[in-house]
Amino acid sequence: MNSYEGKLFHVVTYGCQMNVHESEKIRGILSTLGMLETEDINQAKVIVFNTCCIREGAEDRAYNNIIALKKAKSIDPSKVIVICGCMSQQKKGKYNLKTKLPFVDIILGTHNINSLKEHLLNFDKSHVRIIEILDSATSSMDTEKCIRDDKVNAYVNIIYGCDKFCTYCIVPHVRGREKSRDPKDIYKEVKDLVQNQGYKYITLLGQNVNSYGKDLKDKTSFAELLSYLCKIEGDFKIKFMTSHPMDFGDDMIKVMKTESKIAKFLHLPVQSGSSKVLARMNRHYDIKHYMKIIKKLKRAVPNISLSTDIIVGFPGETDKDYNQTIKLLNKVKYDQVFAFMYSKRTGTPAAEFTDQIEDDIKNTRVNRLLRLQKIIQKDQIKKYFNKTYDCLIQQVNGVAVGITDGGKEIYIPNYRYDNQNYFAKVKVDSIRNHKLSGVIVS
Ligand code: SAH
Ligand code: SF4
Ligand code: F3S
Repeated sequence: MNSYEGKLFHVVTYGCQMNVHESEKIRGILSTLGMLETEDINQAKVIVFNTCCIREGAEDRAYNNIIALKKAKSIDPSKVIVICGCMSQQKKGKYNLKTKLPFVDIILGTHNINSLKEHLLNFDKSHVRIIEILDSATSSMDTEKCIRDDKVNAYVNIIYGCDKFCTYCIVPHVRGREKSRDPKDIYKEVKDLVQNQGYKYITLLGQNVNSYGKDLKDKTSFAELLSYLCKIEGDFKIKFMTSHPMDFGDDMIKVMKTESKIAKFLHLPVQSGSSKVLARMNRHYDIKHYMKIIKKLKRAVPNISLSTDIIVGFPGETDKDYNQTIKLLNKVKYDQVFAFMYSKRTGTPAAEFTDQIEDDIKNTRVNRLLRLQKIIQKDQIKKYFNKTYDCLIQQVNGVAVGITDGGKEIYIPNYRYDNQNYFAKVKVDSIRNHKLSGVIVS
């Protein structure tokens, strides 16, 4: 018996899918202590902040929300406050969590969330503050249990860490070196999710999934892993993120073309349309290489949905560089673009570059880019007409809807949805007010 049993916990998550999935693992760990989840942070005995430090805004948000709990903790000292994730792993961040937040009870880095249970039990006995920030993982990152929120799409880690060291990015500094999971463990996990838990989409996660296997004895490549996972029987599809254009080879295009279980969707961050900027970002590809991949993909996988990440206002970005990014968006016509203003991260090379761009220029550039992308996206709707998409059939606001691999909704009028999750081919037969409608053709 421990004092956590039957009590409530609340997890606050910031950052990328990797963190979302790690929070699912944290919820699993807390449930093995006999705890129950609450939506209300004020009711919780254990509060976990799973943090992100990719940009200053993410850090500020987390910090302000943690500090807001100071009063609640002073009123009820039996509350246990935990911080984990990328912010706690930072060596030289804006906030020194250890000294600035003395009321926080447990601080863990990114390599040891699976020791959370042990730390909570120790804290329960001693009430002595625990700080454990390791330089690398000492054991497997797999946890005993994982409580997933989403019942349709399940995240599965395939590789941890990043060795790419893009000059703007904090991730390699807080997530450590690349470490691939054993393909057999991944296979087992995916098989269970699909065959026993009914998941329809499996999203494989890694900071750079294309680096998968380089550190394994048998050097299984990412494309090989995908083919292997497609052998699992069942009505499901595989997505993955994030792909790095540098290692996205022809083997990937081939597997995306031939395996029907791979979703027709790809998130391929370009970051900038200027090869000069890309070189300074240490991205290891130029725009010519990137466009070659896009061209081959569009040819091999018709109807593919594409998305990307862009950083505007990287040090030294001129109007000419920025206009090349605009040109690229007009050319590729992504279905979705995530655009960010460059944010200086202490400890990364770009933070030391002397040609930093002023905030108001970054602001103007990002807004103009997003406005343009909105127009492109609106115009893109035309391309769906008369085409057939393999969709997951769901119900949205009482109406049957087919959802494409890229997340586009196609309304299916007069179709009775029977509450089952299944894939079916939907042909778009009308577009009205930017909404798609269609019929099931198989
Ligand atoms: N591993 C992935 C994603 C990493 S973080 C990849 O390589 O693409 C997600 C996105 O955040 C990045 O693609 C990048 O566009 C953005 N990002 C990373 N560091 C940033 C910084 N310092 N300032 C602004 N955006 C940043
Ligand atoms: Fe960051 Fe680059 Fe690694 Fe992505 S590939 S996590 S942007 S260093
Ligand atoms: Fe943020 Fe860490 Fe992900 S810095 S974006 S939570 S890897």
